[in-house]
Amino acid sequence: MKKRERIVRYSAPERINHWIVAFCFVFAALSGLGFFFPSFNWLMNVLGTPQLARILHPFVGVIMFAAFLIMFFRYWKHNLIDREDIIWAKNIHKIAQNEEVGDTGRYNFGQKCVFWAAIFSLLLLLASGIVIWRPWFAGAFPIPLIRLALMAHSFAAVGLIIVIMIHIYAALWVKGTITAMVEGWVTSAWAKKHHPRWYRAVAQQSRPKQQEKRP
Ligand code: HEM
Repeated sequence: MKKRERIVRYSAPERINHWIVAFCFVFAALSGLGFFFPSFNWLMNVLGTPQLARILHPFVGVIMFAAFLIMFFRYWKHNLIDREDIIWAKNIHKIAQNEEVGDTGRYNFGQKCVFWAAIFSLLLLLASGIVIWRPWFAGAFPIPLIRLALMAHSFAAVGLIIVIMIHIYAALWVKGTITAMVEGWVTSAWAKKHHPRWYRAVAQQSRPKQQEKRP
């Protein structure tokens, strides 16, 4: 493919940031499921041994939160809900048939929902995680609060796992999306089809530069 047909979607630091979040998520989710369900106890070995998993799980969680916070401040403006999102949501049945609706910007309504669900559940996971973090912080909280935090932590974790499963499915299902996060680029055809408003904005930005280059 000709390089000029490619549009940069994520820089290398952005991709490294995203994959740190993704790796931390996989390790935290698998070890967490291992703690929670007896039939999944074997999953605690993803972090070495069950004992090591118990020590590392909260630290991995904190790294995931901190790395996601960088993504949050980088992308929150692109994830604000607008009028086009209502059109997208109302036509979700068409989206499921691989049609596109509305004048979508950098992210569509589905991606925006993943974004806000991720920050909400990560905040809940962090706050409840600190309350239940033995031996460092849990001693400072009363038992009823620790019980409540355990429940909140479990619900938030299951919620985030479901959301990220949808996110991964969408990233692989929409052809041409995964290169955005692996190599940093998408094709102009992909951008025109799935994110027409973003495509126009990028094209407009690069136009004066191209004109400058002309002899
Ligand atoms: C583990 C496997 C994962 C895969 C294969 C994956 C794949 C991708 C891809 C391909 C994109 C680019 C989509 C686009 O620009 O249109 C993306 C964006 C993004 N991903 Fe992931 N991801 C994974 C995990 C995660 C996790 C664990 C989180 C957060 C907890 C996350 C949060 C995001 C966010 C916030 C964006 C930018 C979209 C937005 O701001 O709405 N991803 N991901």
